[in-house]
Amino acid sequence: MTVDTALLPSYPQDRKCPYQPSPGYQELGGEGPLHRVRLFDGKWLWLVTGHSQGRRLLADPRMSADRSRADFPVVLPRFEAPIFKPLALIGFDPPTHSVHRRLLAPDFSLKHVRALRADVTALAHRLIDRITAKGAPADLLNDYALPIPSMVVSELLGVPYDDHEFFEARTVDLLQAKSPEGAEAAGQALWDYLDRLITAKERDAADDGVISRLASRVDGVDLTRDDLLRIALALLIGGHDTTSQMIAMGVVTLLEHPDQLDLLLADADLVPAAVDELLRVVSVTDVSGVRVALEDIEIDGYTVRKGEGVLVSSSMTNRDPEVYPDPYRVDVRRTAGSASRQHMTFGFGIHQCLGQNLARMELEVAFTVLFERLPTLRLAVPRADLAFRKGGTMQGVHTLPVAW
Ligand code: HEM
Repeated sequence: MTVDTALLPSYPQDRKCPYQPSPGYQELGGEGPLHRVRLFDGKWLWLVTGHSQGRRLLADPRMSADRSRADFPVVLPRFEAPIFKPLALIGFDPPTHSVHRRLLAPDFSLKHVRALRADVTALAHRLIDRITAKGAPADLLNDYALPIPSMVVSELLGVPYDDHEFFEARTVDLLQAKSPEGAEAAGQALWDYLDRLITAKERDAADDGVISRLASRVDGVDLTRDDLLRIALALLIGGHDTTSQMIAMGVVTLLEHPDQLDLLLADADLVPAAVDELLRVVSVTDVSGVRVALEDIEIDGYTVRKGEGVLVSSSMTNRDPEVYPDPYRVDVRRTAGSASRQHMTFGFGIHQCLGQNLARMELEVAFTVLFERLPTLRLAVPRADLAFRKGGTMQGVHTLPVAW
């Protein structure tokens, strides 16, 4: 079907407020659950803002996540880089996806994550000790929000944390690249680094990290060495940028809602529900999933045709008034187990975030320790002076100067 894309709203659009979707998406959300939007290359895809429609489409086996398909939508120029196709786990359909996911599941189970909690708490305290010893102002992103998930994922994978400046900087280059070439160069640098690391571990698998454990499972069929490299890359990148920015953006949101922060400080039991409310509101990736239809799919009066792209918006499905009364309000008391946990920030269906237990635990610890140790925390610059990420989908702040 021919669509005149010139008349369509463009995608993505920058936020005006760091924790609310762009005014353009808000307008679309009021008009229905599915919308055609124009991408940078003049092509279009379906932007899904309805919660129920988003969930059904992400759970539908007729939707493919395979980024190596010619008809897979390219949402930003950087996704044209060969390094993104194929993308481990997130970019594979069953049966390969199921095999790889099963291999990794034990490392991300609730039991395993609970066992890490005391160490993560001690780490958060050490970081605050360092911040207070240096004195205000501190850059909460680089001094606190980033080192927590970065150290945790290094430890989990068996990647030396001493190399953190290298892999953090290349990750930002990759995720913020404006061109396919920029993304490819950053991705290739990470690839070469992990390739050398895996070779070293193959010679002497001295640790019990995920990479060493998987290296011993490489059989050339269910798991090739290339698969292992791609999985390590996905976990290293996925394991620190999203969570660190979620900590930073969560702090900005709480500081702008002192009544909600007070509720949290008064009742530690509220922390898990508050974390899910912050995940809902901030929707840090802004995307729950991108897919292409393998067949025509009828959904609530819309037809998504074979070969058409679909992008489920987390920020807008998280504000569907059918699920969330007063959806733009930040309310840390939205009850856990019901609406707050149904958010789409970790996606839905078979690709739902593998690291969500870990991310939730890191967020709970990060907010608890931060506000317990620095209850008078405030921004050290006016909010209007904070530099937020622009031009993409992944939300974030470049630095977060704070005082206390
Ligand atoms: C606040 C933090 C995080 C957010 C908001 C987030 C968000 C997401 C989303 C939306 C997806 C689904 C994408 C899709 O269906 O296309 C996803 C998948 C994934 N995430 Fe996360 N993530 C976070 C933290 C983490 C962490 C800490 C790790 C690992 C250490 C991780 C590893 C993964 C992996 C491996 C997948 C692919 C799963 C699959 O395809 O089966 N994420 N994440």
